[in-house]
Parts: sequence; C-alpha cells; structure tokens
Amino acid sequence: MAKLTADALRDMYLKFFESKGHTIISGASVIPENDPTVLFTTAGMHPLVPYLLGEKHPAGTRLTDVQKCVRTGDIEAVGDSAHLTFFEMLGNWSLGDYFKKEAIAWSYEFLTKHLGFNPEQLSVTVFRGEGDIPRDDEAIACWKALGIPEERIYAKGREDNWWGPAGTTGPCGPDTEMFIDTGKKPCGSECGPGCGCGKYIEIWNDVFMQYNKSAQGTYEPLKQHNVDTGMGVERTICMINGYKTVYESELFLPLLEKIRELTTHALPEADRVRAERIIADHMRTATIILGDPKGGVKPGNVGANYVLRRLIRRAVRYAMDLGLPTGFTATMADIVIGTYVNFYPELQEKRELIVSELTAEESRFAKTLTQGRHEFEKVAIVMAEHGQTQISGKTAFKLYDTYGFPLELTEELAAERGMTVDKDGFLKAEEKHKEASKQGEGVFKGGLADHSEQTTRLHTATHLLHRALKNVLGEHVNQKGSNITVERLRFDFSHPEKMTKEQLEQVEDIVNEQITRALPVTCETMPIEEAKASGATALFTAKYGEQVKVYTIGDFSKEVCGGPHANNTSELVAFKILKEESSSAGVRRIKAIIGEPALAKRKAAGK
Ligand code: SER
Repeated sequence: MAKLTADALRDMYLKFFESKGHTIISGASVIPENDPTVLFTTAGMHPLVPYLLGEKHPAGTRLTDVQKCVRTGDIEAVGDSAHLTFFEMLGNWSLGDYFKKEAIAWSYEFLTKHLGFNPEQLSVTVFRGEGDIPRDDEAIACWKALGIPEERIYAKGREDNWWGPAGTTGPCGPDTEMFIDTGKKPCGSECGPGCGCGKYIEIWNDVFMQYNKSAQGTYEPLKQHNVDTGMGVERTICMINGYKTVYESELFLPLLEKIRELTTHALPEADRVRAERIIADHMRTATIILGDPKGGVKPGNVGANYVLRRLIRRAVRYAMDLGLPTGFTATMADIVIGTYVNFYPELQEKRELIVSELTAEESRFAKTLTQGRHEFEKVAIVMAEHGQTQISGKTAFKLYDTYGFPLELTEELAAERGMTVDKDGFLKAEEKHKEASKQGEGVFKGGLADHSEQTTRLHTATHLLHRALKNVLGEHVNQKGSNITVERLRFDFSHPEKMTKEQLEQVEDIVNEQITRALPVTCETMPIEEAKASGATALFTAKYGEQVKVYTIGDFSKEVCGGPHANNTSELVAFKILKEESSSAGVRRIKAIIGEPALAKRKAAGK
C-alpha cells in the first residue's frame, strides 16, 4: 500500500474540515508575533488566543490550519523513538460555533473513514470531574452514540483530561483524547490509554473550552464555547504507515541516510542511533526556525536565540562523535528544505540565510570546543599540582555547559591522565541547572494570553515607527523583525547604512506628532489582495483569498496585522528612541520606549 506522506495528510485534513464549513487559514509564524511571554509557538491554539477570548476572527467561526510548533522543554529526551523539538499540529477550531457533538463526530469520521483506522482500535479518555466541575457526560454520550463501547471510554482526572488556561487565568476546559491501540499485549491489569508501555498511542486531542478560570481560582461557565483540537503530523503518519518510530517517515529518512553516508567514526549501536536522531531532529528544527517568514531569530545567548544556538551546538557535538565532515549543517539544511518546500516555500527563499547562519555557528562552536580543551588542560595541570585525581562535578558541568563538552568526553580526557570525574556531582549540577531552565520554560506555558495593555501600546508604536521610517528614509524600509517586552519595543528593518542623528530625530518627532494628534486606531477585515491594493503594508505570507485584518492609524499608517492595538495613539503618551544599531548586513535595529519615561527623556532633551 502506498505510504501516507505528510504532504498528503495535511491536504486531507484541511480539505476534510473545509468540507465541514471551516475556512483554511495559514498557520502562524513559529516565532510569536509581538508576544513577549513566549519564545516559540508551542501549540495550534497559541496564535488564536485572542479569538478564543472573544475577539472576532476575520476568517469566521470555523477555522482549520497546520501550525508549526517548537517545544524544547524535553530536548534531553530527543533521541528516543518519539520526542521531537519541532512538530506540526493539525487543528480545527470552533470559535463560539459548534461544540462537543460535532467535534467528536468529525474526529471519529476522519479517523475511521479517511485515515482508515478500525473503530475497534479506538479508545478514548474523557474528564471524570473534579471539585465544582462535573464529569463530562456530554462527551461520553457523544462517543457512545458513535458506537464506542463503555469499556473503551476511560474517565480520567485533571492531569490527563483538562487543558488550559494558557496563562494563569482564561478559557479552559475538559478534553477528550483519542488513542490507537497498537495491538500489543497490555503491560498489566492497569494498562490503558495514557500508559507509557506503548500499547496505546495518543493521536488527537479535542479540547472543549467552556470555562473561564478567574484570578480567584474559580471556574465560571464561558459565554463563548470553543473547540480547540490538535493532531500531530509526525506521529500520525508514523502510526498510519505502521512505522516503529517517527524517524522512519519521509520527514526524517533522507536526513538519517545522509548522516549514515557521511559517518566516519563507528559508535556502539545504541549511541549511533541516538546521535543520528539528535542531529536529524535538531537540524530540522534549526532550519525551520531560521527559515521562518517572520525571521529575526539567530544563534545567540538569550531567549529564542539561545534555544537555536543550543539546537545547532548539540547537533554539531553529536556530529563530531560520528565524525561528520565540516559543513554538514548545510547539507542537512538542504535536505530539510527539500522535504518541506511544497508546504513552506519560504524555506527555499531563505536558503542562503539558513545555510550561512548554520555554517557560521558550526565553525564558531568548533572554536569554542578547542577553547574547552585548553580549559580542560588548565584544570588538569592544577589538579596534578595538588595531587588531586577526581574532577569535580561542578567543573565537569562547566565544561559541558559553557564549552559543550559531553560528560563522556571529559571522562575520556580524564582517563587519559589517570583521573576520574565526579559523575554524581555532575548529575547534581545538571539537575540544578535543569530546574532553573524549567523555570525559564515557564515562560512558554504561562501567560500565553498576557497581551498586557503596555504591550498593546508598544505594538501600535511599532506601526507608527515603521511608517515614520519609510517617510524619512524611503519605501525600501521594511520590517525584518519585531520583539516587544513590557519595557520596550525592538524593531529590525531593512536599510543599508547607519541612520544619522538628524534622521533619528526626525523619525522620533514624526511619531510623537501622531501621538499628539490623538489618532484613532481602527480595524477592518478584507481579503489579502484587497488589503494590498488599498496600500496597506503587508508582511506575512497569507494564502490567496484569505481574510486579513487591516489596522489603520488615522491618516498616517495602514498595516495588515493580527492585532491587538491601542484604541488611540494618545494612549502612548510619548515615544523615545533609545538606540539605533546594526542587526545584520543591510538590517538596522531600533530600540524605543513609550509612556511617561519617554516623555521625561524627551523633556530632558529639550523637546
Ligand atoms: N491545545 C491542545 C493541545 O495542545 C489541543 O490543540 O494539545
């Protein structure tokens, strides 16, 4: 039987939900649009949070899409048969439209009629009720009506069958998860969906957002009932085709084959497999991040940039174990681009940037590793002088964390000198570090919905800045990246040279003039072509015919954008540029603030 490819699955899924009255929308950028609370898009619902909270979506109340997601919380687990740092999520959405009956019936229809799963293979879980919230009898009744017998409907608690809120407050609700029984023997009498033994594989999650969690921690029924579903592309094609691991699909196989062809160091089987998978996974994710249409994430030391750096360096480290040649990152990127170009044509357009960033980071890291070896030698000499023979866990962890030395490498080098490494101490230091970065990862999970008012105003300031730059420097100025924290905006734009003091002053004055004019900010919905024809600045890649939102600021600016925005420019109070610098070749970067601090700084400058 012909294999089901990712291209075919995406197409099948979107068309199915289109036939059920859904509008196909473009997935969002994997780098969140003006959302300072997250580093990457982690779920399909993520870019849709404002609409789940009640804002009107331009494409209507039934939507379907494919969302690129990056999750690096489990990066250390990559290398097993299932963990990935990048995946695509297929989703269908009801924004106050249909609810449980339709969502469940369509999930069932798609799984059994289109993907060809035998209804006998299907087990489901539902929320069993906890505290004030009753058992999800409605979902149970829906499954029974479709012929799923009671013994294959498992009622479970909050840990398993509750989703959200995305932040500390907001929409949330019970979910029903669908599992395919692989036919393996149960591992014991307790074995069931959610058991880790591999008998049951989760394939789809339908979330019913019917509650709002208040700041007091109570759950109030929501006026707008939403459905949010998520089905992973990689896992689904793996199961349909009967693959043992996700790495057997066409999304990974060409990468693995190339790695094997380039390998020059023999490793024990289990180590080899793990190294190959890590390289394939990390290079795929790095290529997708660098090739994202929003752009702006490069290997670096903080936030999303650091995640990207870590992915590339981990891949390089394992590539060294296998003895892959210098420049292998470019080879890997070309394979990833070839695999995804049909669905994400922007990868081809960004090929040059992807390859140059990857190879630059690869060679920077090679240098760091050499420095690490020097560091090791220094430690070894001092230890020998003091007659010590055990490298402390802290030192071993520093070599790992700062120079990318795997523990095994430190152990090998130590052994060559008749020394040992305090492995327990290393593991303890690593655990401590993991705890700290988990707290950092909290950023991912917490506050998806936190579009604070200040952030919203900074977003409006970004539109004013973009237009003012075009007025002063010329129409060649285009947004290359935007990043907003609660304190400041950062805006990257194309311009070949450093801006002069006069130009900066002019731009700042123009923006302040618009703030003083107290211009209203309005929003309209129209097809992308109409928006472009009306002269709106449009950055992102939207599908032909897709409805988009156009934000107009008085007579000054018009931009295609998802929002949200301030209602009036007067809310910004004042605007002050803090810095103008180079971001990369042909791209400049401005950091600016608004509000009272901006006003004070302008006054101090005699404005
Ligand atoms: N938000 C849910 C999930 O991430 C369903 O899309 O699983």
